[in-house]
Amino acid sequence: MDLMNTYKQYPLKMVKGEYNYLIDENGKRYLDFLSGIAVNPLGYGNKKIEGAIIEQTMNLIHASNYFYTQTPLKLAELLVKNTCFDKVFLANSGAEANEGAIKLARKYSELKYNIDRNVIISFTNSFHGRTLATLTATGQDSFHEHFFPLPGGFKYCPFGDINTLKTMIDDSVCAIIIEPIQGEGGINIAQKDFLLSMRKIADEKDVLLIFDEVQTGIGRTGSFFAYQDLGIEPDILTSAKALGGGLPLGAFMAKEVVAKSLVPGDHGSTFGGNPVACASGCAVIETILEPGFLDQMNEVAEYFKEELVKLADKYPVVKEFRGKGLMLGLELYIDGADLVKKAYEEGLIINCTNVRVLRFLPPLTIKKEEIDILIKFLDNELMKRSVA
Ligand SMILES: Cc1ncc(COP(=O)(O)O)c(C=O)c1O
Repeated sequence: MDLMNTYKQYPLKMVKGEYNYLIDENGKRYLDFLSGIAVNPLGYGNKKIEGAIIEQTMNLIHASNYFYTQTPLKLAELLVKNTCFDKVFLANSGAEANEGAIKLARKYSELKYNIDRNVIISFTNSFHGRTLATLTATGQDSFHEHFFPLPGGFKYCPFGDINTLKTMIDDSVCAIIIEPIQGEGGINIAQKDFLLSMRKIADEKDVLLIFDEVQTGIGRTGSFFAYQDLGIEPDILTSAKALGGGLPLGAFMAKEVVAKSLVPGDHGSTFGGNPVACASGCAVIETILEPGFLDQMNEVAEYFKEELVKLADKYPVVKEFRGKGLMLGLELYIDGADLVKKAYEEGLIINCTNVRVLRFLPPLTIKKEEIDILIKFLDNELMKRSVA
C-alpha cells in the first residue's frame, strides 16, 4: 500500500454505489448506514447530482477566485435564502470552514476591541477537524497528543456546563464554538436550555457564537440546519460533508455585521467554491428543500428512532439511545469495533465512534424496509452480547 497509514482501514475495496448500497470489487452489496460519514445525503447514483456535475464539468471545472463563476454564486444564494445569514465563504472541507470561522471571529473582535480579545471556547468531547487550529479547538486530548506545540487562544469547557462557561467568558474571549449535536464525540446532544443560556450570555458579552454544523447540517437532524429547529441563531455557522453531495465542499456563513470584518486579502482558498463541487451542492440543497423531502425523512427517522429505543430497552448491553433525525447512536457498555466488523461481514455498514457508541448516519433517502434489515442484525448481535 502506498497510502500513509493514517486510517484504520478495513480490507474492503468499494467500486460502486447504488441507491443506499455500496458495492465492493467482488460484487458484494453493503446497505449503508454511514453514507461516507454523513457525506452522501441522497445515497449513490443520484441523477440530479450526477447531471449537475457532468454539465458543470463540460462547461468549466475551475477558473480561480479571481473571477466569479456561476455555480458558487448560485450556491451562496441558496444558502443565504434558506438561512439567517447574509454572506458565505466557500471552502473545501469542514476543518477549512472552521479555520475560516475562527479567523473571522478573531478579526471581528480585533476590529471592535483589541488584539488581546482572541480566545475561542470549545467543549469537551467536541470535534472540529484535523488542521492545527481545529485540532486545538477539538476538546479531546487524544487528538492533541504528538502534535505540540498547539496554537494558542483555545480553552475548553465541559459540554453542557453553563455555570463553568459563564466563569470562563472574560475579556479575552471572542467566540464560542459548538456542535449542536456532537458527532465524533458520540452523538451527544446540546440541550436547548444550555444553548439558549449560551446565546444570552454571548449577546451580553458580545462574544460570537459559532455553530459547527459540519455533521448536523444539510437535513441530517431533520431541518436544513439544526439551529433552525432549535430556534437559536448562531452568529457564524460552518458546513461541509453533505453540502457537496460527495464532492469536497465546505462553507462558513455569517450575518453582515460580522462578515464585513473580512476584506480582500484576509482569507482565501485556491479550490474553495470549486464550480463542479458547487454544482453538486446546489443539486443537493434543491433536492433536500423540495416540499415534502424533509417531512418524509423525519417520518422514517422517527421509525428508526423507535426501533433503536426498543433495542436499548431490551438489551442490558446497551447503555443509552441518543440522537435526532438521521444522526442516531446507541451507547454500549462494551467496545463496538467487533460489531462493526460483523456488520461488514453481513453486508451492512455501520460505524462506532468514541469506542462504545454505535453511530448511524444513513443517506437521508434510507427506507423503513432497509432500517428493518439493520434492526434485525442488531437485535441478533446485541442479544448475543447481552447474554455473554
Ligand atoms: C462537527 C465536525 N466538524 C468538523 C469536521 C472536520 O471536517 P473535515 O473532515 O471535512 O475537515 C468534522 C468531521 O468529522 C465534524 O464532524
